[in-house]
Amino acid sequence: MSQIPTYVTAVPNGTEKGVYMAVDLGGTNFRVCSIKLNGDSTFNLTYSKVAIPKELMVAKTAQELFAFLAKQIGHFIETHHGDRFDKDTGRRITESAPEGYQEEHVFRLGFTFSFPVQQLGINKGTLIRWTKGFDIPDAVGKDVCALLQEEIDKLHLPVKVAALVNDTVGTLMARSYTSQGKNGALLGAIFGTGTNGAYVEKLANLKKPLQGDYDKSTGDMVINTEWGSFDNQLSVLPNTPWDIALDKASVNPGIQMYEKRVSGMFLGEILRLAVVDLLKKEEVAFFRDENSSSNDWKSTTNIGSDSSIFTQWGLDTAIMSVAAADNTPELSTLRQELDSLLHVYSPAIDDAQAFKAIAGAVARRSARLSAVAVAGIVLQSGKLGGASEEEPIDIGVDGSLVEHYPYFRDMIYEALRSIDGIGEEGAKRIRIGIAKDGSGVGAALIALVAAGMEKK
Ligand code: BG6
Ligand code: GLC
Repeated sequence: MSQIPTYVTAVPNGTEKGVYMAVDLGGTNFRVCSIKLNGDSTFNLTYSKVAIPKELMVAKTAQELFAFLAKQIGHFIETHHGDRFDKDTGRRITESAPEGYQEEHVFRLGFTFSFPVQQLGINKGTLIRWTKGFDIPDAVGKDVCALLQEEIDKLHLPVKVAALVNDTVGTLMARSYTSQGKNGALLGAIFGTGTNGAYVEKLANLKKPLQGDYDKSTGDMVINTEWGSFDNQLSVLPNTPWDIALDKASVNPGIQMYEKRVSGMFLGEILRLAVVDLLKKEEVAFFRDENSSSNDWKSTTNIGSDSSIFTQWGLDTAIMSVAAADNTPELSTLRQELDSLLHVYSPAIDDAQAFKAIAGAVARRSARLSAVAVAGIVLQSGKLGGASEEEPIDIGVDGSLVEHYPYFRDMIYEALRSIDGIGEEGAKRIRIGIAKDGSGVGAALIALVAAGMEKK
């Protein structure tokens, strides 16, 4: 795995204060926020979000994508802070600075960029590779903060990119800020479009040479594991015909193999491939149109020929949550969704049950694999056998999968209990909590640290 040192050497304790901006690229939406940290483990967040246009995910030049991001930042400032700035010059209009603003004229911005980055400083880092369906080769190897700052400056926005943060690091920071635990959180993890974790490691355990200046006093550093690329060589990960087909048709075959079995972007596609395989089997009566005598397998089903189930990425993972949540004997909600979203006409109860069972198996495998990553970090930290045996081991999580898939956390706990070295007692000490909107707050917290460093 990449195991990227982040140069973040401490987690917050909830007393931090100030107003910052954050932008967040790499999840389902691009988000722009301003965050007021109140200093008592609470915060106020104002945000707007837009979906990234699909064509920009595979744009020819990085500039096209970053110009779009800068434009959204401009809109946000105009909408939410327009009274304070002249959009032509970027100068302050009102005289009295609102409480908590660090600078007279400029917003400090934390940039949550949820892709593997070689971090070169607190606001400098080069893109190692794209993940999650993005593919703009022109950006690889470039400093993503500089790319964003350039486009911000072209629009004369009063914004300085002050910190570059992975979403997992942001989630770890946010969980530590809000959880009020004595020692802060150990791990920030995302189970969303992609999956990844960042955790606090002892500096003494780091084998990579570290560059430049960083605070050594805590003896720790946050590491962005990029665990999505765990076991790309498939020595231990399960591998089904549908995993193989998904990978082959992806934009990055052979890469992010753990992520392709765990995260939300991929689960729907695994399910779709498995379902389509069953539909093709003559001997299996699954979503079958009993009146059809056609030789073409598609026409033997009761699924409309225009159904997105027949195209790559055509089955949104969200329907798996619907399947898991529908516990009625007739599966009425699931059958309705199958009809309206996938054009499966009048699905039989048996067929809907089979669909639910396959979806459940794909999701349960994902949760059990997720538990392996969590357990690996907990065991590595040595905290289970540590002196403070009463203190919970705190883990912040975020992302659409863990937030919306019913019982995802319960399935992780179930698996943790059966992992050697964790067991019933260990699982009780692990406290997994949602760090909602975590990475925006986390990015603000790191922008705060950056502002402090500049003053020094
Ligand atoms: C959001 C965070 O809440 O969750 C993002 O703000 C993060 O930084 C995202 O990337 C992950 O979830 P998803 O489902 O949007 O990928
Ligand atoms: C992908 C990215 C990683 C990010 C994760 C969750 O794995 O490579 O940087 O943290 O998705 O968004």
